[in-house]
Amino acid sequence: MIAFTNTYLWYTTRATGIVALLLLTLVVVLGALVSNRIGGTFVGRFELNELHRSVSMVAMLFLFMHILTTVVDSYVSTGIISAFVPMTSAYKTIPIAIGAVGFDLLLSVWISSLLKVRIKNESWRFIHWFSWLAYTSAIVHAYMAGTDTHDEAGLLVVAGCAGLVLIVALWRYFARPERAAGRTALSPLPRAKTIPQRIDSPPRSAPTVKPRRR
Ligand code: HEM
Repeated sequence: MIAFTNTYLWYTTRATGIVALLLLTLVVVLGALVSNRIGGTFVGRFELNELHRSVSMVAMLFLFMHILTTVVDSYVSTGIISAFVPMTSAYKTIPIAIGAVGFDLLLSVWISSLLKVRIKNESWRFIHWFSWLAYTSAIVHAYMAGTDTHDEAGLLVVAGCAGLVLIVALWRYFARPERAAGRTALSPLPRAKTIPQRIDSPPRSAPTVKPRRR
């Protein structure tokens, strides 16, 4: 078999891993801002939500590139199965297994969000909680698997991201607003409790019968 490996592939794996982690951090921060109903004065909540969605797409793109370059690089004995199934990589078994768990969880969050209009709101919300677990796995994986994450700059990036998300998670928990009754994740508007009356047609009343003259 022809070995397909070069240092550029390895650099790309490392670079895309770091960029994916930074973007995921931004996605989590934006998601917490949306959930805690921040926005309205300078940036609207709708724009924050759109930013959260768009950045998550770019983060997933970098993550796919990170995994693709790992799988393609024959120097690393990690196949495509190892990207999804934990403990199947001969190379850095435990760190890659933790990365695979994070990737599986992120995929479920991502796919459920793409199918949001087709699934129950409670199911979507439940699956979306996996993102905290996925992020924790990503941090542990980055620290354990990384070549750069043990020196000053790389370690600072991983520790900085982890610290920021920890603060955001605490703020998300302690400052969370009361959920308004009838709210859905699809619409920030309260669900109407009564069916509104049509105003273009006046309410029908029993016809008045004029007494006949004899
Ligand atoms: C939750 C998703 C993941 C994120 C956010 C992520 C991010 C990262 C980061 C930040 C690094 C450190 C780069 C460095 O400093 O060198 C890294 C290393 C690595 N990741 Fe991932 N990763 C994820 C999942 C995966 C998966 C599923 C695989 C397996 C296909 C994988 C393969 C690798 C490898 C082989 C390295 C070591 C690169 C080196 O030799 O330095 N990652 N990852």
